[in-house]
Parts: sequence; C-alpha cells; structure tokens
Amino acid sequence: MVHVNLLKKVMYILLALLLFLTICLWKETRKGYYVSLKTNSQTDQIKVKIWKWDTLKLGTLQDTNMDPLPTTNAALLLTKASQVKAKQNISTIPAENNLMTTLKKLPSPLKVWNRNSSSKNLPPRLQKVRKTYLSMNKYHVNYSGPKNASQLLPEEVMCQLQKRLDFRMISASDGPFNTSEWEAYLPRRNISAEMGQLSRCAVVSSAGSLKSSHLGPEIDSHDAVLRFNGAPTRGFQSDVGEKTTIRLMNSQLITVDEERFVSDPQFNLGTLIVWDPAPYHASIDEWYRKPDYNFFRSYKRYRNMHHEQPFYIMNPHLQWQLWDILQENAAEDIQPNPPSSGMLGIVIMLNLCDEVDVYEFLPSKRQTDVCHYYQKFFDQACTMGAYHPLLFEKNMVKHLNRGSDEAIYTHGKVTLTGLRNVQC
Ligand SMILES: *[C@@H]1O[C@H](CO)[C@@H](O)[C@H](O)[C@H]1NC(C)=O
Ligand SMILES: *[C@@H]1O[C@H](CO)[C@@H](O)[C@H](O)[C@H]1NC(C)=O
Ligand SMILES: *[C@@H]1O[C@H](CO)[C@@H](O)[C@H](O)[C@H]1NC(C)=O
Ligand SMILES: *[C@@H]1O[C@H](CO)[C@@H](O)[C@H](O)[C@H]1NC(C)=O
Ligand SMILES: *[C@@H]1O[C@H](CO)[C@@H](O)[C@H](O)[C@H]1NC(C)=O
Ligand SMILES: *[C@@H]1O[C@H](CO)[C@@H](O)[C@H](O)[C@H]1NC(C)=O
Repeated sequence: MVHVNLLKKVMYILLALLLFLTICLWKETRKGYYVSLKTNSQTDQIKVKIWKWDTLKLGTLQDTNMDPLPTTNAALLLTKASQVKAKQNISTIPAENNLMTTLKKLPSPLKVWNRNSSSKNLPPRLQKVRKTYLSMNKYHVNYSGPKNASQLLPEEVMCQLQKRLDFRMISASDGPFNTSEWEAYLPRRNISAEMGQLSRCAVVSSAGSLKSSHLGPEIDSHDAVLRFNGAPTRGFQSDVGEKTTIRLMNSQLITVDEERFVSDPQFNLGTLIVWDPAPYHASIDEWYRKPDYNFFRSYKRYRNMHHEQPFYIMNPHLQWQLWDILQENAAEDIQPNPPSSGMLGIVIMLNLCDEVDVYEFLPSKRQTDVCHYYQKFFDQACTMGAYHPLLFEKNMVKHLNRGSDEAIYTHGKVTLTGLRNVQC
C-alpha cells in the first residue's frame, strides 16, 4: 500500500515537471517568433508609423491610414515586437544622453528636461531623421537671421512671441477667402471675441505619460482646456479630465480621416481650430492654392453639419513666425518643418489666457516611449521629435517655465505667463 502511494506521488511530481517544461519551451518559442518578426519587417513598418504619428507626410512614405489602432493581427504582433524592442532601450537611453538634468534637491535619479538639450544627445536614428529633413527642406526655408540667441532672457523671448506672432484666424477679409461663399462658412466673430478673456488655462498634450497621472480633476479646474487632434476624454477622465474648450487639429486628420471627423461626436464639443503646413512665409493666397492637405472640402462639409460650433482656420503666417523664433533661440539648425501642434496650441493659449499650465509637454517621472495615452504604440520620436523641431520647442518651453522643476517631475506641468501680462 505504502509503495503504491509513493509511486503515485512520484508520478504526479513528474507530470507537474513535464507541464512546467512545456510552458517554458512554449514561451521561448514565442520569444523567438517576435525576434524574427522584428528583424524582418519592423524597420520599414516603424518608419512609416513615425511619419504617421508625427502627423505629417514625407514624400513617398506618405501614410494614408489614420486608424490609430492596429487592426490586423500582423499589426498587433508588430506592436508587441516594438514593445519588446522599446523596452530594451528604455534603460539605455537616459544613460547615454544628457537631455535631462538631475534634480539635486530630490533623491536621485530624478530628472527633468534640460533646456540646453542638443541634437547630439538624440539616439542615432533620430539624428539621422533630422539630417534627412534638413537636406529635404520641403517648405523651402531660406532663413538667414541670427541663431544661437539662447542668451535671451525668458522675458525677452516672451516679448518676441507677443510682438511677432499673428494670432488672427482666417477671416472673410483675407484674400482668397473674401468670396460670399467663404463668408457664409467662416465664423462671424473673431476668436478673441468668441473666447473672451480667459484666466487660467490648461494645454493637455496627448503623451503616453498622462496615463495613471490622476491629473483629471486638476486639469478640469482650469477655465479653459485645449486638446489636440483626436485625443479622447471618454474613458480617460481621471487622467486627462473631461473639459474641452478648444480642440486644435492638423489638416491631415480632418482630410485623411474625414469620415471619422464628421461622425465622431467628440469633435462636436467646444471651439475647433484646424491648421495646415504652409510653404515658408507664403502668403495666404500662395498657401490657399497649394495647401499641404486640401482640407477645405472637409471643413465645409463639417460646417454644413455644425454651423453653430465655432470652427477656425489658423492663419498660415503664425507657424513660420513661431518657427523663426525657435530657430533664433536654438544653437543649431532645427528641422525646417512647421512647429508641432503642441507648440502651436501653447502659443494660442498664451494669447487668450492670463496664465497657461501645460501638461506633459515636458515629460514627468512617468516618461515613456508610449506615444499617446490612448494608444499602445511605442516610439521615442514622439517625445524627442522627428518631423517637428520638438527638441527645440521643449528647450524653449523649459526656458520660459515659471513653475518649479518638481512640478515638471511630478505633474509634467509647466506654467507660463499669458502674453497680455508680459511687460515689454
Ligand atoms: C535600441 O538601441 C539600439 C542600439 O543603441 C539601436 O540600434 C536600436 O535602433 C534602438 N531601438 C529603438 C527602438 O530605438
Ligand atoms: C544652459 O546654458 C546656459 C548658458 O550657457 C547656462 O547658463 C545654464 O546653466 C545651462 N543650463 C543647464 C540646465 O544646463
Ligand atoms: C527667401 O526666399 C524668398 C522667396 O523666394 C525671397 O523673397 C527672400 O528674399 C529670400 N530671403 C533670403 C534671406 O534669401
Ligand atoms: C478679394 O481679395 C483680393 C486679393 O486680396 C482682391 O483682389 C479682390 O478685389 C477682393 N475681392 C472682394 C470682393 O473684395
Ligand atoms: C475681435 O472682435 C472684437 C469685436 O468685434 C474687436 O473689438 C477686436 O478688435 C477684434 N480683435 C481682433 C484681434 O481682430
Ligand atoms: C553660441 O554663442 C556662444 C556665445 O556667444 C558661443 O560661445 C558658442 O560657440 C555659440 N555656439 C554655436 C553653436 O554657434
């Protein structure tokens, strides 16, 4: 009897061991599968995705799929593969560059954005991308003004923004828009009259680092909140809040993803603004004849459906006026492409509000390679920039910050003075 029981026990142990080994082997096989997938097809796929999530197009790599979520199995596997790869790099990146400054007061290794960050600190892949854009010079930038004016004090930079940026939206008095047809489409009131004088405003980036931030109530406590493109609030209220006063969108979103734009009710809230990359310092007329994305049809279609909702078209001068100031304050050549929607949204709020809190434009302790809080996609380019001169925008915003480094570290929060409160 005793003998049989012992034999049984040994059998069970052997079975358990066999099961365990099978599981281990299965896991190993899966790993191998991802590795081979990533070496074969990832590089090209990722390239296409960068341009997509960086919002704009690059010659033949132009991407027309705006569906933010990978829908096919292959795409899902690809995402997993890039997760594996991105994770491997997370630990190596901060060590090999000095984009971050260590905070002496806080226990190490806490870091925030360094306002003197240089492209030399970027990973090699993004350095190459920057050089490619410099040589392409798609928008025919022929800037010859000063560079390396980083000695300007924050107040002096604020004065430059106040004096040189044209914040007017397109109106029926602007060249090609002065037809009776356009007059019927464009909002009657200008944006300053529409929004009134706003006191405390929030600009909410779409960064992955907003996830688990619990910033929702703080963001909603502002008088006005600006969000970008298709960034959702539903399902993410505790991290990003639910108030949307202004939504700034790029022309690609409303053109390429037109059906979603006209049917998704999240766009029906607040005031909309669309912007489109224009040739360097082009007139409104030149740009109108050759927009980067021909979004005018989609704009009119939406206006026919929601005529009461204010919906503005950004004047094409603003982007390059801002770009010139970014270039002047950078110590090296910045990408000759328009500033990011993020930076444009910041200056729009600086014009409308007394004070602006910007969330997760400069990354907090939650910094991640996850591009957007509402998508499972990983790419460093989303934080460091590829198409847009994001690195230099961040340097400037860090320079202008009136808040503390601790607020950046814990809340991803930068506080800027509204332009009407700047004494020049
Ligand atoms: C990870 O780092 C390696 C070596 O620095 C680099 O070749 C590779 O492109 C990086 N991967 C990503 C996803 O950045
Ligand atoms: C950035 O550069 C300026 C001017 O060279 C210097 O005064 C400042 O300390 C630097 N800041 C950081 C965080 O390195
Ligand atoms: C840049 O190009 C524009 C248009 O071609 C021209 O009018 C302007 O003089 C050029 N500026 C410089 C500094 O070369
Ligand atoms: C519209 O603007 C253009 C160029 O600015 C001008 O030549 C034209 O006369 C204007 N048309 C009307 C109806 O005001
Ligand atoms: C906007 O409209 C208001 C009222 O019509 C006017 O007082 C104001 O000067 C306009 N602002 C701009 C920037 O055009
Ligand atoms: C920027 O200006 C400083 C001081 O004027 C100078 O020492 C430095 O070499 C310049 N850097 C570049 C990249 O031109």
